[in-house]
Amino acid sequence: MPVTLIGSLVNGRPNFMTVAFISRVCLDPPLVSTGLNKRSATREAVLKNRVFSVNFPTAAMVKEADYCGLVSANNTDKSMLFEVFYGKSPAAPMIQRCPLCLECTVLETHDFNSHSCIIAEITAAHVDECCLTGRKPDPKKINPLLLTIPDNRYWALGESVGYAWSAGKELMKGK
Ligand SMILES: Cc1cc2nc3c(=O)[nH]c(=O)nc-3n(C[C@H](O)[C@H](O)[C@H](O)COP(=O)(O)O)c2cc1C
Repeated sequence: MPVTLIGSLVNGRPNFMTVAFISRVCLDPPLVSTGLNKRSATREAVLKNRVFSVNFPTAAMVKEADYCGLVSANNTDKSMLFEVFYGKSPAAPMIQRCPLCLECTVLETHDFNSHSCIIAEITAAHVDECCLTGRKPDPKKINPLLLTIPDNRYWALGESVGYAWSAGKELMKGK
């Protein structure tokens, strides 16, 4: 799973929560879905403000990323941990040090036992210029932080093993 930091405004301060339950779910409109636990301050802020940010920390930010998942804004102020910047909304703080940051607006929410599933539209994307190759975000340069469960280990990106919508073409021959 990718490790992300969800940025929101909690009691007027920037707050960041570690989130691995997150995925793109639609191309047009560009949608993400994420699962936020009901004890988190972030879920409450996102439901109230209807906007949030998704920040992708680098593998080098492993300590900060883990910390944001260990402590809650309900009892710990995380607002000074990162230098932040803002895009369209003052309620969606983004992390300067993260090479890729998305601004999102909530479209739908679905309530389950432990988590709420939030479906949101990506309204803007910010990428560090040094992480682009030919005007496109380059995963190798972004060096995202990854997580495996149930062993609870963090990883950096490994080697590419092929191209999507291409590697399988060989098996189509003769059909
Ligand atoms: C690696 C990692 C991944 C996590 N992923 C999620 C997740 O996808 N959804 C979730 O609700 N909580 C997740 N958590 C737990 C929250 O980050 C944790 O509840 C956090 O304290 C909430 O912060 P907040 O109360 O300031 O919003 C994760 C924690 C870690 C360490």
